[in-house]
Amino acid sequence: MVVTVSSKAQQRKVVIACFGGFGRELAGWLRKYEPYTDFLGFIDDERPKECLGSIIDHRPIAGVSYLVANGLGSNRLKIAALLSGRGAKMGSLISPEAILGSDLNDDSQIILLGRASVSVNVSIGHQTLIQELAVIGHDVQLGNGCSVSSFSFIAGGCKLGREVIVNPHATLLPRLNIGDGATLGAGSVVIADVKSGVTVFGNPAKIL
Ligand SMILES: CC(C)(COP(=O)(O)OP(=O)(O)OC[C@H]1O[C@@H](n2cnc3c(N)ncnc32)[C@H](O)[C@@H]1OP(=O)(O)O)[C@@H](O)C(=O)NCCC(=O)NCCS
Repeated sequence: MVVTVSSKAQQRKVVIACFGGFGRELAGWLRKYEPYTDFLGFIDDERPKECLGSIIDHRPIAGVSYLVANGLGSNRLKIAALLSGRGAKMGSLISPEAILGSDLNDDSQIILLGRASVSVNVSIGHQTLIQELAVIGHDVQLGNGCSVSSFSFIAGGCKLGREVIVNPHATLLPRLNIGDGATLGAGSVVIADVKSGVTVFGNPAKIL
């Protein structure tokens, strides 16, 4: 069953952590995907005066859904842990144009942009980012804090650990295991398991 998310279904209050380029981009997508949502502003440690304040001193606001817009999965996880440790409700941003065969909702704590496609029986860890036009096959597992770029294809049954970076146009063959913190270079064709912390690229992908 293909499930689409209605933008009208998501009327809420949102604060975005991180006021960098990605944070501002995310605010733009939020306005487009959820025109009825009340976007309160950003929190950021480097530019608190241009924002609602810093992350480090932020006291979470009740009833607000917090999104973390940092390009690095490890940073997203740290910021989410800090905010949720103070009682913040961490949320998701799920594009209404995404093609979803798996149940994802605000509690999933993911960011899924544009026409990304997620097949059936996929599990996605908290603070994972999936960019426009990425394709995730059936039975894939993505750990916490992964970053999956546009035009990448993760074939059925692959298991990615936490904080894995899948750069644009990377292709993963079926049922591969990719270790925590591995990086798959742009345009890679990954045909074998990748160990934790290793960077691979090329076709067939080899260790950098
Ligand atoms: C794989 C990657 C992560 C490695 O980055 P890095 O460690 O900084 O490596 P370098 O750029 O120093 O490159 C080292 C060598 O590998 C080559 N190389 C790097 N990435 C490559 C790739 N994806 N495909 C083919 N060759 C690559 C470089 O040409 C260089 O070769 P040389 O030593 O013969 O000159 C990076 O190149 C990559 O693919 N980044 C994607 C960035 C991107 O698209 N980001 C957008 C995210 S939304």
